[in-house]
Amino acid sequence: EKQGYKHFMLKEIHEQPARITDALRGRVSVDRGDVDFGEMGFDEEWIKGLDKIVFVACGTSYYAAQVAKYTIEELARVPVEVDLASEFRYRNPLITENTLCIPVSQSGETADTLAAMRQASELGAKCLAICNVIESTIAREAEGVVYTQAGPEIGVASTKAFTTQLAVVSMLAVWLGRRRGTLDAEEAREILQALRDVPGTMDKMLHEKAIYKHIAYNYSDVNSCLYLGRGNLYPIACEGALKLKEISYIHAEGYAAGEMKHGPIALIDENLPVVILVPKNRVYEKVFSNLEEVKARQGQLIALATEGDNGVRDFADVVLEIPDVPEYIQPLLSVVVMQLLAYHVADFKGTDVDQPRNLAKSVTVE
Ligand code: M6R
Repeated sequence: EKQGYKHFMLKEIHEQPARITDALRGRVSVDRGDVDFGEMGFDEEWIKGLDKIVFVACGTSYYAAQVAKYTIEELARVPVEVDLASEFRYRNPLITENTLCIPVSQSGETADTLAAMRQASELGAKCLAICNVIESTIAREAEGVVYTQAGPEIGVASTKAFTTQLAVVSMLAVWLGRRRGTLDAEEAREILQALRDVPGTMDKMLHEKAIYKHIAYNYSDVNSCLYLGRGNLYPIACEGALKLKEISYIHAEGYAAGEMKHGPIALIDENLPVVILVPKNRVYEKVFSNLEEVKARQGQLIALATEGDNGVRDFADVVLEIPDVPEYIQPLLSVVVMQLLAYHVADFKGTDVDQPRNLAKSVTVE
């Protein structure tokens, strides 16, 4: 049932606007400037008194959690920690009865995420799961669950599960902000309206194909690739690198753009493609300076920029574009570009895109 697509992954990439619409349906009320998740079993007073939120997750779901830190801290003004579930398990984490633990998992069966959630629960935290698979173990064991409504994901490389996680994270940030009194209805309306606009905007972006074929043709025989992003696009750089590694077997590394000078700059020469996420946002100028630094060292630059940004075109070898959207929305649109980039490189190389070597869809052992 690939519906005419060459791979499940490509079908799932194209399905994202519809699945994000599903994730928002019945939950977002732009008029009220609020989100309704139905009964979640958390007392409103308890939500107001939260001392911190701790996310635990693995792989792509971990990057969704990292984006969540930016959005939730900004809108709900509560400290957010994000841990790899496999790391959290063997630390002695600081959890209290006023801690909300949020496991994020597509499958709801990932062994480390489940164990981390159980541990947080034993230490007194309340757990709210963000899961895709209905009635999965993580979904069942948590006090509350918000389903991502992405439908079954067949491709081992996660795509629609991730973007629906991001949609849920944005809604959750608004929900928390409204309950904690840190976000007024007017601001919430703006964010929710922008979220509502995502499926339409994303749909238009999915028609572009030629540029990815061009990149695949020119870059699929490289050995390594560096991805740079900053702010809420740093996790998206990491997710872009993960996608490329998983399906094309090209080594790729996601790095915080501001850290380039502290090491990875030594790698840059004419053979290293550098993917830089540089749309117009609060750190635009900062990331723009990375463009200049890479160019000065003859690096191959693939930039993701805001539509019509001619400044970036002066430096970059290839420019990929997203429309001019608010910062909260940029991860959602940028990651689609990262997915398509990885997909077309892998498809050009002829790898097994839906079943990459050595990988399993769900990692149920430690
Ligand atoms: O089912 P989960 O979201 O808990 O899975 C977590 C990771 O195993 C998963 O995201 C993995 O990294 C994917 N292959 C990414 O494409």
